[in-house]
Amino acid sequence: MNEAAFTPPPILNSARLLLRPVNRDDLDLVYAFNADERNLRYVAREPWTAKAQALVRIDEWTDGFAARATMMWAFEHGPERAPAGYGGFFGIDAEADKAEIGYGLLPAYWGRGLAGEAVDAMVAWGFGELKLHRIHARVHPGNTASERLLARRGFQVEGLLKHDSRARGQWFDSALFGLIDPAAED
Ligand SMILES: CC(C)(COP(=O)(O)OP(=O)(O)OC[C@H]1O[C@@H](n2cnc3c(N)ncnc32)[C@H](O)[C@@H]1OP(=O)(O)O)[C@@H](O)C(=O)NCCC(=O)NCCS
Repeated sequence: MNEAAFTPPPILNSARLLLRPVNRDDLDLVYAFNADERNLRYVAREPWTAKAQALVRIDEWTDGFAARATMMWAFEHGPERAPAGYGGFFGIDAEADKAEIGYGLLPAYWGRGLAGEAVDAMVAWGFGELKLHRIHARVHPGNTASERLLARRGFQVEGLLKHDSRARGQWFDSALFGLIDPAAED
């Protein structure tokens, strides 16, 4: 893993998005996403009811950034830089050069290929700058948009994690998707 990739904090661009490190100014975005049940259909989480929950999460990401274990970006859309979603890497493992990727958009931005753009930019940074060897994602079966997005980018289904998480009184399975750095030699 190349720790230098965190300095300066990375800012990424795609055709329609600017990805910049999340900070406390993103409180409304992070809260809005997690308070809206439409976004949580395939996310094992209770809908949030207080902005303080978003602040706690943002501070966890900031601590994770300092520990080089988390890299979370806010996605800003278009010239007006409208807050559209967020995503990034967590569980960054410097020994095994691997991390998990996650992402989400507010519903107004779904269905336009924007998450794919963000994933392309993040994966390019993960392999190219952070020098990860492996990136994985966990997707609850039925989240077709997320499954297709990953499959189109070469992520392979590696298995099914039964009862991987629990929320809202039910268990959630996860399909495990993995991608090895295409530039890796072995
Ligand atoms: C999952 C999510 C990130 C997808 O983002 P998006 O920008 O809307 O996705 P895209 O427009 O790039 O679509 C990706 C693919 O899924 C397809 N798709 C989109 N919505 C779909 C739906 N409701 N049903 C089936 N396929 C769908 C698209 O056609 C596209 O496939 P293609 O490349 O073969 O044409 C977005 O729906 C979201 O934020 N959902 C809530 C949070 C979440 O579930 N995050 C992922 C957790 S693993």
